[in-house]
Amino acid sequence: MKQLLDHDLKSSRIIAPAIGEEKGGFIPLPLRNLRPDEEISFDILLKVKTKGEKEPRFIPACPQGEIFKEEWYKKLQALDIQWLYYSQDDEEKVLEYLDRCLEKVLPDEDREPEEKVTLLYDTTLIWVRSFFSSVEQVGSAPQMFRALRLIDSLFDLMKGGGVDYYRSILDIRRAGHVLYNHSINVCFLGLAFVSFMGWDAQKAQDFGVGAMLHDIGLIHLKPELVHKAARRSADRPTDSHPAMGYKMLANMSGLRREVRYMALQHHENGDGSGYPGGLKINAIDPWARVLRILDHYETLTSGNSRKRPLSSKEALKEMAALQERKIFDLNYFMNFIKFTGKT
Ligand SMILES: [Fe+2]
Ligand SMILES: [Fe+2]
Repeated sequence: MKQLLDHDLKSSRIIAPAIGEEKGGFIPLPLRNLRPDEEISFDILLKVKTKGEKEPRFIPACPQGEIFKEEWYKKLQALDIQWLYYSQDDEEKVLEYLDRCLEKVLPDEDREPEEKVTLLYDTTLIWVRSFFSSVEQVGSAPQMFRALRLIDSLFDLMKGGGVDYYRSILDIRRAGHVLYNHSINVCFLGLAFVSFMGWDAQKAQDFGVGAMLHDIGLIHLKPELVHKAARRSADRPTDSHPAMGYKMLANMSGLRREVRYMALQHHENGDGSGYPGGLKINAIDPWARVLRILDHYETLTSGNSRKRPLSSKEALKEMAALQERKIFDLNYFMNFIKFTGKT
């Protein structure tokens, strides 16, 4: 049978996903995640609108078990089709496929840091999506194991690669689904920062998990509210997501105490003006103090902010103004300024 990708695709209009698109059980997957000549272990679909049709449809482009041909890849690239789709039911298969790709790409010395970090980022994004949407039904041990592996790989890359990797991590952060992307952005940024501060691998790995899950309390909100809430900075004392997140993490085994405190205290301010506890700086867990800085910086500089994204310099300036009220931990904040200056 001829695959859709063997046909002349110019006759159909291929539709790119909207920001944060999650509808209909089909999830967008960047074309760059597919490796030519590798067997595809899930069905690939395209979102297509043909003449005369009102709504776009998802149509099978390549069934699982096929080898993804290099010529297809080139053809899609030439047509500027950067997005494919998979069915939500195939999520586990997609993660397994990406794991296989990572095993080949990460140790390959001929690959650029950017390619490695991008593949890790995209894989982690799918992991966060699946974890956040199933956290209430699933015993999370195997899922956590995968997250730890992803975080480990990233930390290893950074230790070996230095500044090049820091830079690609800052470059790669981008807007998308507000909550998922924010979680990964904070996690990646956090791993780069604690590796810059010389934390050991175990501590960094645990911190990475906490950074990734710190806003998990937001998943109880309706999707529209999640988007709004993830954009907020620390000015909403009524928000319940830190306490909710703390409770959820308390039910997961194997997490360090500090990880739970990262969820509970990441909106606390050093001057006592934060929430939910109104704690002063010495009462805030040190890991939550680090996260407070990363979270704020990420919100200001990412495309997810309610304002236009600020440059790194502008964000630091705004944070320095806040620091007059002693919002952040001074020592970590000074280190963070040094870190961003390095990248
Ligand atoms: Fe938060
Ligand atoms: Fe956050």
